[in-house]
Amino acid sequence: MKLIKAVRGTKDILGETGTKYAYIHRIVEELFGSYGYSLIKTPIFEETDLFKRGIGEATDVVEKEMYTFKDRGDRSLTLRPEGTASVVRAYLENKIYAKEDLSKFYYMGSMFRYERPQAGRQREFNQVGVEVLGEASPLLDAEVISMGYHLLEKLGITDLEVNINSIGGNESRTKYRQALIDYLLPAKEDLCEDCKRRLETNPLRVLDCKNETCKKYTEGAPSIIDSLSVEEKEHYETVKKYLAIYDVPFVENSRLVRGLDYYSSTVFEIVTNKLGSQGTVLGGGRYDNLLTQLGNKDIPAFGFAAGVERIMMLLGDMKQTEIDTYVIWLGEESQEYAMKTADALRKAGVKLAIDFNKKGMKSHMKKAEKLDVNYVIIIGEDEVKNKTLVVKNFKDRTQEQLTLEETIKKFKK
Ligand code: HAM
Repeated sequence: MKLIKAVRGTKDILGETGTKYAYIHRIVEELFGSYGYSLIKTPIFEETDLFKRGIGEATDVVEKEMYTFKDRGDRSLTLRPEGTASVVRAYLENKIYAKEDLSKFYYMGSMFRYERPQAGRQREFNQVGVEVLGEASPLLDAEVISMGYHLLEKLGITDLEVNINSIGGNESRTKYRQALIDYLLPAKEDLCEDCKRRLETNPLRVLDCKNETCKKYTEGAPSIIDSLSVEEKEHYETVKKYLAIYDVPFVENSRLVRGLDYYSSTVFEIVTNKLGSQGTVLGGGRYDNLLTQLGNKDIPAFGFAAGVERIMMLLGDMKQTEIDTYVIWLGEESQEYAMKTADALRKAGVKLAIDFNKKGMKSHMKKAEKLDVNYVIIIGEDEVKNKTLVVKNFKDRTQEQLTLEETIKKFKK
């Protein structure tokens, strides 16, 4: 019988990656919680129109990457390719704006995009993201960017570069769009097939095309910063000022435009050179028009999302479990005492493993090595009789005979 395998572009998270996923989740909860964010969990699928209207028909995501299907009731549904549109839908549908001035959400979960799988790029992948709704101040932009940087730092990821840019509001972007078309049009025939099309539908995207010829042409392109209004420039300057105050090292990148249509004003990405071509770990920005577009509400917003698989690739080796102690029991007569002892130690907070089957000392020691524990507790006939335990430091190999209470005290220390 043929073994059924996971679908191309999907991966099981287990073993060491399971530990990493849980670790990221824990740090995210802790850090975002300390900034006042609360968890939001939206459905995995939504009406297709939400993403068409939210992300934009001319984006790669909507044009060619969505998992769209008809359900049994003939509704067109789509597996979420990202989290922002769903969070905005939930915010509008639940009228959160009527209950609070400022809403701060975080999420972590699967997203789906039909892309060509490669290292750091999957068809089902996980994102951790935040969305803040109800604040237009550039101080928010700086705080959220700084929090994204802080998250990666706290996870132990180094050598990161924060890229920032401003793509202005609708008016300045329309002006810039035309300036860019005028600049690129004479070179149209030399651009890649995608960019020839983008020149008509989404010319800003030509700026972050990876094709060498397109890259060469866009090097001399006019900068979007020059098309910004006075207020937009001021906003951008304040973001930069506060990033410096928060000690976030950043570079300005006028080619940074992002791949989703809802952005305006500040956009940013945190990149690494350790992941080859899929070097963007975290990206986001302001999306002040999205709530008008989806719900006729003039509410400003800012957010970001990071790729969890990319973060996991950047984390160092990690132990599969948190087990710190291994309890060994020798002989039938010690089984019950050993199980009871393990239960009491676990209730006192000791992270331990115990075997269910009788084994010889040699194979127990092998297991302890494999678990890479700091302590081994040995229970034999004598220990059952004396109501004691042999507690062995598995690193320096010293050992002592202790009662259960003494052992608990020792571990508490
Ligand atoms: P995005 O840039 O499309 O933004 O995705 C954010 C991050 O998700 C990327 O930087 C990358 O790390 C990860 N990612 C994207 N596609 C894949 C893939 N196929 N495989 C693995 N990882 C991937 C957004 O999704 C926006 N919703 C971010 C945002 C939130 N903007 C405002 N609020």
